[in-house]
Amino acid sequence: MARARTVYRCTECGADHAKWAGRCDACGEWNSLVEEAAAPSGAAAGASRRKGGAASLGAGGRVVEAQRISGIARADSARIRTGVAEFDFVLGGGIVPGSLVLVGGEPGIGKSTMLLQVAAALEAAGTPTLYVSGEESALQVKLRADRIGASAQLVPFLGETLVETVIATASRRAPAVMVVDSIQTVFTGDLEGAPGNVGQVRECAARLMRFAKEEGVAVLLIGHVTKGGGIAGPKTLEHIVDTVLYFEGESSLDHRVLRATKNRFGSVDEIGVFRMTEGGLDPVANPSELFLAHHSGPAASGSAVTALIEGTRPVLVEVQALAAKAGFGTPQRVSTGFDARRLAMLLAVLERRAGMPVASLDVFLNVVGGARLGEPAGDLAVAAALASSVHDRPIGTRTVFIGEVGLGGEVRPVSQVERRLAEAEKLGMKRAFVSARAAHARAPRSLEVRGVHGVADVIEALAT
Ligand code: TYD
Ligand code: MG
Repeated sequence: MARARTVYRCTECGADHAKWAGRCDACGEWNSLVEEAAAPSGAAAGASRRKGGAASLGAGGRVVEAQRISGIARADSARIRTGVAEFDFVLGGGIVPGSLVLVGGEPGIGKSTMLLQVAAALEAAGTPTLYVSGEESALQVKLRADRIGASAQLVPFLGETLVETVIATASRRAPAVMVVDSIQTVFTGDLEGAPGNVGQVRECAARLMRFAKEEGVAVLLIGHVTKGGGIAGPKTLEHIVDTVLYFEGESSLDHRVLRATKNRFGSVDEIGVFRMTEGGLDPVANPSELFLAHHSGPAASGSAVTALIEGTRPVLVEVQALAAKAGFGTPQRVSTGFDARRLAMLLAVLERRAGMPVASLDVFLNVVGGARLGEPAGDLAVAAALASSVHDRPIGTRTVFIGEVGLGGEVRPVSQVERRLAEAEKLGMKRAFVSARAAHARAPRSLEVRGVHGVADVIEALAT
């Protein structure tokens, strides 16, 4: 087979090199050269410059029709609903035909399981799919399908890693949705590098993108994220693909969160929550239950609940704090699921504005269930959890805290208070602390809403 000409391109400055080198001699960057396929008609560009004139600049191209934007059909109506509701939800209502979706995540998190379930649900509804795997043998995929259920048996399977064969086969079968597991195992014969290196990963993704667009086949790519690097991760593909989904979770816990970080066809704020069971992934319709620690017996001190907005959905999340007398040296500040600098700020505010002696204490903060407190609305719950731990006085699990804490110790209102309160009521909360400026919010009747001006008010109220 005649190989296409390849070049080594610097990912920093874009300079081309005929041979690989450890260092780009154009910009001096180390380890930045990546093998790429050279443009097929490399001669055309040179020729046009010699001849001159606008017509020759387009040599090798052909004249095509442009169309008015008003004449373009909207894709919404044509979205493919997979039947895995949480997956559709995160995508913004289903898979857009002809789109390229990257599903990233650490090995073992459940990417193959989820996409096999998606393919199975599609097949069961009569939508043709193709599941391509270079990761696992047919037998391994069969064993997974046996766990997932009967519909997974319907999915056509292709064990193949050469991207040309994958595309040729998919082109013949014409599925509506194709899964490629994973982008790090497929390769093209046109490049010499091993599967998984940056050049291979980018070239294969680019070809699958062209295939998706030209034939209208939605392609779902699996991409492994590795902590240590070594193989090219999904980061190098984010700009190529239409949609990037990340599948995350603590592998020791059985729930998984699917999040969109880029979406050309929808919002990126939605999350989908699943639970890994013996029979595949189960969607979790009410994520709040997952993020509240289940207490048996009396509540412990140092724990407080807040209501966050994840995408469009309110979710209750529990924060746990533990303040203990420090040994020698600088006190430790360890925070999981909450920004460490924001914790330092809240501690300073508690010390100065509420007279709480925290400077000499070790402080540990943990957001339950691997959730993240990314919104300032969680500040008040963090402050309350810290105060509860310092005074060793439990708050009880029926109180929710919603508010941002400012440097002056003031409690500020946050967006969508009413929806947060409604979620709190749904999960059996009895009392809510919000900013006094938000206390007029329409609240469910069974919830006692207390407006506060500063963190000191909250601490005082909790002490009585
Ligand atoms: P997998 O989908 O292979 O992960 P990835 O493709 O992201 O590497 O899932 C791997 C884990 O999920 C593995 O530890 C086994 C577990 N699992 C279940 O607990 N239940 C199931 O039904 C399946 C299929 C897998
Ligand atoms: Mg896998």
